[in-house]
Amino acid sequence: MWWMMSENGGHYCSKKSDDLCGTQESDRGFGITRLCCMLRGIDLKSIIFLLVIVPLCVMGVYIHGLKISYFLRPLWESPPKPFHEIPHYHHENASMESLCKLHGWGVREYPRRVYDAVLFSTEVELLTIRWQELYPYVTQFVLLESNSTFTGLPKPLVFASHRADDEFKFVEPRLTYGSIGGRFKKGEKNPFYEEAYQRVALDQLLRLAGITDDDLLIMSDVDEIPSRHTINLLRWCDDIPEILHLRLKNYLYSFEFPVDDKSWRASVHRYKTGKTKYVHYRQSDEILADSGWHCSFCFRRISEFVFKMKAYSHYDRVRFGRYLNPKRVQRVICNGDDLFDMIPEEYTFKDIIGKMGPIPHSYSAVHLPAYLLENAERYKFLLPGNCLRDKE
Ligand SMILES: *[C@@H]1O[C@H](CO)[C@@H](O)[C@H](O)[C@H]1NC(C)=O
Ligand SMILES: *[C@@H]1O[C@H](CO)[C@@H](O)[C@H](O)[C@H]1NC(C)=O
Repeated sequence: MWWMMSENGGHYCSKKSDDLCGTQESDRGFGITRLCCMLRGIDLKSIIFLLVIVPLCVMGVYIHGLKISYFLRPLWESPPKPFHEIPHYHHENASMESLCKLHGWGVREYPRRVYDAVLFSTEVELLTIRWQELYPYVTQFVLLESNSTFTGLPKPLVFASHRADDEFKFVEPRLTYGSIGGRFKKGEKNPFYEEAYQRVALDQLLRLAGITDDDLLIMSDVDEIPSRHTINLLRWCDDIPEILHLRLKNYLYSFEFPVDDKSWRASVHRYKTGKTKYVHYRQSDEILADSGWHCSFCFRRISEFVFKMKAYSHYDRVRFGRYLNPKRVQRVICNGDDLFDMIPEEYTFKDIIGKMGPIPHSYSAVHLPAYLLENAERYKFLLPGNCLRDKE
């Protein structure tokens, strides 16, 4: 508070120190004296200064508070316990027996059945790419959609309408579909309740789909896509961990913007009736390296970006209405900038600073999901060099 400071200033600026102002500087008390002279000399200026700077600082903290707290995250949060990383071996021509052996596992006489279960929101494109990627090895695809987003916004049953247009014909014989009404609880702020509710419903749908003990169950969001050969390996090898996380490559907006390989939430379970619960957090210490792709905010239309930003579990990050402006969203996508203008979520200052600024463009389309390349024209927006999106 500026008046207290100037009062203190007055206290120290005795007649004695007065002399020091213009003449010599003694070593002892030099700092204080100097400060006194400054405060006395520019009292009015400093008051104005404080009147301007202090409110500016308060405003800065108000506007950028979330950013500042993210930047200081290394101080208040330590990284989670590291995973035990299982090296991943693969070559098209290697036999399953030798691949299993390389991982320290035995090979089975016949493969396990595989269930792929997702909670669906609106991401039709990635769902198609995912299902085409996994199709050869999946016994049953299980999909649940709600007419509520996790944040309680009403949404149409997007999958149901695309299914009615026969877009998912290829998967029909292996599909178990369920829809569920949102709870639309007034005044509920925390999106994690709606999410948990939907995951419990998905557990029930899985049982309806006929899952039994030791079947493989893939638990991941639609945009976390395990690679085909990863699932083939896991269904053929014995002795794989009961719960195995999959390390995926993170991408943002499209495969033009690789972020890192830190995605770990996807997991594969050897199903245990009454024990296995469909969740999306850490459940074991084992993780298999290089197991697929996680493409966040990989949408065809600008309107989908805007919808997702609003429906996102971290809606508090949309701090200004202008963030949702379609022109801005398009510019951000092409630059590889952050939609929420946020600081990277990392645990060390080195990682935070290393990741600040736009994501560098990549010009590689090597080792991407097969269906994406087979239909490159249709999914152009996901490939390098095509950042412009449809509006609607
Ligand atoms: C894979 O194996 C087939 C037949 O065994 C062979 O014709 C082909 O050249 C091999 N490909 C590679 C890349 O080694
Ligand atoms: C959501 O679905 C439930 C059950 O099908 C229905 O009763 C409810 O009216 C729907 N709500 C909205 C907002 O569409």
